[in-house]
Amino acid sequence: MAKMSRRTFLSRVTTTMVGGIGALMGIPTVAYLVSPAKARGGLGVDAIPLGPAAKVPVGEPTLFKAAIERKTGWVTQTEELAFYIFTEDGRNFTAMSNVCTHLGCRVRWVDGDEQFFCPCHAAVFNKNGTVASGPPPRALDQYEISVEDEQLFIVGKVEA
Ligand code: FES
Repeated sequence: MAKMSRRTFLSRVTTTMVGGIGALMGIPTVAYLVSPAKARGGLGVDAIPLGPAAKVPVGEPTLFKAAIERKTGWVTQTEELAFYIFTEDGRNFTAMSNVCTHLGCRVRWVDGDEQFFCPCHAAVFNKNGTVASGPPPRALDQYEISVEDEQLFIVGKVEA
């Protein structure tokens, strides 16, 4: 076996340690970058369960709340989400975010006016989520929804 000089030995040990530290630091970084892309429909999770479809009266947007956990590296955060679910026939459903597209305040549905209102800067959205008046630059975000065993699930985001 060839004898190794002290300088060569220290150089190899240092290179190995730096490489190991780099690999350990790189794993969470890669996981952070790749994991949202793996999830379905740009939600960051596979599906978001909302509850029974029977809770949605025909013709009236109904607010459903859900909590999802997002894992980023070692950190897990719980995020509260809310969606307005709407149906005209009790079989086909649409889902909209309740987050105003202006600066992110929560919109609320007003039955008598048949519109969504944002309290922050007085925006008004139509029943289908399009902007009726005010500063929002675009309609409320839309989501794909599925019904399985009469339960509603958000399964993806509709790209504008
Ligand atoms: S945040 Fe809704 S109108 Fe400004």
